[in-house]
Amino acid sequence: MISEAFAPAKINLTLHVTGQRADGYHLLDSLVAFSDVGDRLWFERQDHLSLRITGPFAQGVPADARNLVWQAAECAEVTAGITLEKNLPHGAGIGGGSSDAAALLRHFGAQAQATRLGSDVPVCLTPVAQRMRGTGDQLTPVVPLPLLWAVLVNPKVHVPTPDVFKALTAKENEPMPQELPLFGSAGDMIRWLATQRNDLAAPAITLAPQIADVLKVLSEASGTHLARMSGSGATCFALFDTPDAAASVATDLAASHPKWWVRDCRLS
Ligand code: C5P
Repeated sequence: MISEAFAPAKINLTLHVTGQRADGYHLLDSLVAFSDVGDRLWFERQDHLSLRITGPFAQGVPADARNLVWQAAECAEVTAGITLEKNLPHGAGIGGGSSDAAALLRHFGAQAQATRLGSDVPVCLTPVAQRMRGTGDQLTPVVPLPLLWAVLVNPKVHVPTPDVFKALTAKENEPMPQELPLFGSAGDMIRWLATQRNDLAAPAITLAPQIADVLKVLSEASGTHLARMSGSGATCFALFDTPDAAASVATDLAASHPKWWVRDCRLS
């Protein structure tokens, strides 16, 4: 029997770096949302573990113990024939590998293993908006967010997360307010998000200046209310009022920048 799981893209609507621990890991305060675009996994029962990678971003993704999905399957003691359809760019600040691993753990009820697999895996276990603090291990539910429409853009440059953290000079920055506001509408929420930050954007841009180009193009697109980078980059997102506004910008950008990965989506 074949069963299926969805691994949505994770979007950091905010990402404040508030300190650094003695072991080098950074303390974060991030409002995380999830998208309706993502990777897909299929599981077929068999007596040993195997992994096959398909999809537009399959190239370069290891189909062995280097893959977080494989590691998640071993942690969960799952033997299955796994097919992973990579629709999301990897190493791209939208949680690709972490969300894949979390989808497997969720599917097989092995959530307790998440922390071992990386800082972004716990938040991806429950793919609804959450506040993420500590090194990614302290999760707080938030009141459901108003529906947001977004365009995701990745300029197909890879910026390694450790390098971005290393390039961050100010490690102790303001967290988000203790109590997040209650948002009456998407507009309210976007206006508040504009007062918050992604502290990793500036260091990521020093490593990959193309990110600044993406942010400029997104913020100048018709109907954009806010453009920001997600995670440690290089994927950026722009927020819109309506699905039509997002779809129209995505169509235009895909035509004007054929080398970029561009998707319109819903965030929640
Ligand atoms: O936990 P994960 O393996 O995803 O982290 C990748 C790298 O990102 C870490 O090795 C570390 O350099 C950096 N990182 C950090 N602080 C965090 C999360 C990740 O410094 N909270």
